Amino acid sequence: MYILAIESSCDDTSAAVLEDDRRVLSNVVSSQFDVHARYGGIVPELASRRHIESIWPVVHSALDEASVSLKDIDLIAATRGPGLVGSLLVGFTFAKALALVNNIPCVGVDHMAGHLLSVFLEKETPQFPYIALIVSGGNTTIFKVSGTTEFTTLGRTRDDAAGEAFDKVAKLLELGYPGGPVVDKTAKLGNPKAISFPRAWLGEGSLDFSFSGLKTSVLNQVNRLRQKNEAPNLPDICASFQSAVVEVLVEKTMLAAKLADITSIVIGGGVGANSHLRSQMAHRCNMEGFKCYLPSPVYCTDNGAMIGIAGYHAYKHGSMVLPDTDVYPRSPLIMI
Ligand code: KG4
Repeated sequence: MYILAIESSCDDTSAAVLEDDRRVLSNVVSSQFDVHARYGGIVPELASRRHIESIWPVVHSALDEASVSLKDIDLIAATRGPGLVGSLLVGFTFAKALALVNNIPCVGVDHMAGHLLSVFLEKETPQFPYIALIVSGGNTTIFKVSGTTEFTTLGRTRDDAAGEAFDKVAKLLELGYPGGPVVDKTAKLGNPKAISFPRAWLGEGSLDFSFSGLKTSVLNQVNRLRQKNEAPNLPDICASFQSAVVEVLVEKTMLAAKLADITSIVIGGGVGANSHLRSQMAHRCNMEGFKCYLPSPVYCTDNGAMIGIAGYHAYKHGSMVLPDTDVYPRSPLIMI
């Protein structure tokens, strides 16, 4: 079965072609950094407009790279939510129209399900159940994954997502956009113990997160220095901030695995590309006898291939969309 998968939930337009749930034949991603960089964050209306311009060329490239035509496609999968409504509408409506015109079945995919299953795009894959930390610009959530369509929320952020904190800290330090990769790079030159930023544990045994206080603490630190006309030591601030985020992410994920008596841990989402998070999670798992699965960075950040794999399983479980099926901005997978 050939699957054409489309992802447009935020600021990346992506299309992929997969053969079943195994082989990725193409995975084309068109990012919009040039559109949003000057604003230091995503401007939803501009994101939708760029998706409209990019969607056909990106789908064409994905088909070309996979050496298939629309006639070969057996299933179209597209992100239905959560995300920016305007962005979602472009990809999802495009997918439904393409499916309708070409008489191809179409399935709507939850973006979180894509992140949760992206590990299956790699050679080494976990057994069910596993614990997954999905950490991106819009989400920071710990799940128990019991099967290809069985996901339980164990903990989630009560305010900012970790990626949002990375982006906001980068903006206040005037490091550019997107913030995560540049903070990651700058942190490599700094001392993670230079500044003791707060860690929000939210009570013993809590699997929830909070990053708004940490973000404010970085802001206060920078303002104090600026008032004294002192230049902030950017590498030290980045390293200390990143260390505070990663410590909480790793500790709570390990705790979730221990409480659920599960020995496999998976990371997904854009912040899953963070070098410190990857090394710390791998190290802790290694020390404590857990198995750690880290999808390559290209499958952590938004991509069509993960939507293809989640779409394949949703379809096999009987999911299909009708022409009037709508997108949704918030994920039903995340229990409040
Ligand atoms: O999953 P993603 O591509 O998009 C969604 O938010 O759905 O994640 C994007 C987020 C952004 O906040 C970006 O700054 C962050 O992931 N990110 C990183 C890194 N690469 C991307 N954060 C920390 N370190 C990175 N290396």
